[in-house]
Amino acid sequence: MSLQNFLSALDSLKSEAISTLDSVKDADAFEAARVKYVGQKKGALRDIQKQMGSVAAEDRKSAGMRLNEVKQAIEAAVNDAQNRLGGGGGSDSDPTFDPTLPGVRPNIGHVHPITQTISHLTEIMGRMGFEAAEGPEVEDPWHNFVALNIPEDHPARDPLDNFYLATAQTGDERRNEEGSRLLRSQTSTVQIRVMENRQPPIRVISLGRVYRPDDPDATHFPMFHQMEGLLVDTHVTMANLKTVLRVFATNYLGGDVEIRFRPSFFPFTEPSVEVDFLWDGQWIEFGGAGMVDPNVFRAVGYDPEEVSGFAFGLGVERLCMRRHGIKDIRDLYSGDMRFLSQF
Ligand code: FA5
Repeated sequence: MSLQNFLSALDSLKSEAISTLDSVKDADAFEAARVKYVGQKKGALRDIQKQMGSVAAEDRKSAGMRLNEVKQAIEAAVNDAQNRLGGGGGSDSDPTFDPTLPGVRPNIGHVHPITQTISHLTEIMGRMGFEAAEGPEVEDPWHNFVALNIPEDHPARDPLDNFYLATAQTGDERRNEEGSRLLRSQTSTVQIRVMENRQPPIRVISLGRVYRPDDPDATHFPMFHQMEGLLVDTHVTMANLKTVLRVFATNYLGGDVEIRFRPSFFPFTEPSVEVDFLWDGQWIEFGGAGMVDPNVFRAVGYDPEEVSGFAFGLGVERLCMRRHGIKDIRDLYSGDMRFLSQF
């Protein structure tokens, strides 16, 4: 084939292909045109490329250059037609799909505010050298009461104030029986479990759920969380306790928090105090604390003449509520996403 004929065949292929592709109106017509011109097996471009072999050797370079130009122009027309018809080009492309519309954000869950608070408190106490310890939520009377110096006839053991798990017995049998179990009513149980397994010095916190048959109101819930703290060493004083709690409160609530001890009573500490924080001009009670009672040390095999220590137990929900301005503890457990998604 002469160069002249080859170039004019290329020109007519180019103008025919481009005008066809420019005028396709739907996916089927596009696909037919695509196969006709740039199809791998029988496409017109491929056919004409084969004819290059019959062009004289000295003309092949200029024939090849022109072939490339035509090929690029036809491929560009294929792309344009594909974009114009909605991108897919296939017969199943959806004409109602508009890629310019904003997408739908997937709803990604997040950590519950109380779990966030637990991580935050653990981190603050960790900086003061307190490591996290855990204990079971289903407890025996030894760890929930006896080792904590709470005698059998103490009102705190009343079945009406606890969730005992055995139900086929009377209240008195339940609270005294060796094998009985209850949902722990305080995290002070973990103090005993830690001291039974370790020797001083001890510096631990324990954050977890506790259960009490309290009627729900704005500040009470039957299931809530406490942060227990225990430090045992030699020559520990209440000044140490107050400093640790002040540093903790300042870190968690921010700014200068004042702390107040009010005399109180817990069987497992002597002396015992209620702990109040002054923040934003208001005193709020957060929990109880005191110096570990010698009877508790004896119960775990420590010598109270040699070691001393302090313990505290703070309400985690109360702390979280204070920091975030939450007015009702029940909001934390209602499962209402409008509330929870704010955290
Ligand atoms: C105790 O539970 C003691 N174990 C604290 C303690 C530990 C004292 C170590 C001494 C040494 P109390 O019953 O006061 O103490 O509870 C502590 C805190 O838990 C309360 O101040 C309050 O913040 C929180 N709390 C108590 N009951 C509820 C409830 N029903 N709902 C939410 N928070 C509660």
